[in-house]
Amino acid sequence: MTSIHRPLHVACIMDGNGRWAGHRGLPRTAGHTEGEENLARLVRVAVTREIGWLTVFGFSTENWVRPRAEVRHILGLHEKLFGRVAELNELNVRIQWIGRPFDSPSARTPKYVQRAIRKAIADTAGNTGMVLTVAFDYGGRTELMSAVRAARAAGETITPESVNAHLYLPDVPPVDVLVRTSGEQRVSNFLLWQSAGSKIHFTDTAWPDFDAADLDAAIALVR
Ligand code: IPE
Ligand code: IPE
Ligand code: MG
Repeated sequence: MTSIHRPLHVACIMDGNGRWAGHRGLPRTAGHTEGEENLARLVRVAVTREIGWLTVFGFSTENWVRPRAEVRHILGLHEKLFGRVAELNELNVRIQWIGRPFDSPSARTPKYVQRAIRKAIADTAGNTGMVLTVAFDYGGRTELMSAVRAARAAGETITPESVNAHLYLPDVPPVDVLVRTSGEQRVSNFLLWQSAGSKIHFTDTAWPDFDAADLDAAIALVR
C-alpha cells in the first residue's frame, strides 16, 4: 500500500453531465450547468482536504465536434467558472488554465473566454492555497507533441526532464489520483504524461452528483 503524506494532486475527468440530465428528462445543457455548480461545490470541499492541486477536464480538443448550441453553452459556463474570482479569493485558491495556447493555429477558444481565463488567473495569482487547474481545449497528445517540439527547437536532448520542462504547466506535480466519473473507464487523452504513475478511481457517480464522500473515496487510494 502506498501512502502519500503531502498535499495531493487530484485530477478529475468530469464525465456524465449529459446522462445526468437525460435521466431527469432535462436537456444536456442543464447537466453541464449542474456540473459547473458541482465543481464550485467540490472546490469548497477540496480546500478542506490535503489537496494541493485539483485539475479538472472541462473541455477537450475532441469536444468541438459536439452540436454548436451545446458547445456555446459549455463556453458560457467556462466564462462563469473563471468569473468566480471572489469565491476563489475567499478560499485562497489560485486558478490556472491548461490547453492549446491561444496563439496556436489550431486553438479555438473564443476571445471572451480567453479574457475570462486571463482575468481569473491574474486576479487569483496572489493566492497561496490550493491550485485549481481547468483544462479547456486540452488534449494530452497535443501537449506532448508541443513539448517535444519545443525541447527540440531549444536544441535540448529529449529526456523526461526536458519534455517535462516544456509542458503547458511544468510546475504542476504528477497526478496522484485520477478520477473519472459516470462509469466510463477511459483516460480520454487527459494528462497522459502527468498521470503516468497515478492511481485511478473510477466511479459510477455522474459528475453533477460527485460529492465529498466520492472525493474521500478517491483520496483513500493514496492515504
Ligand atoms: C462531461 O459530460 C462534460 C464534457 C465532456 C464537456 P458529457 O457531456 O460527456 O456527458 P455524457 O458523457 O454525455 O453523459
Ligand atoms: C472527456 O469526456 C472530456 C471531458 C470530461 C471534458 P468525453 O465524454 O468527451 O469523453 P469520451 O469521448 O466519451 O471518451
Ligand atoms: Mg461524456
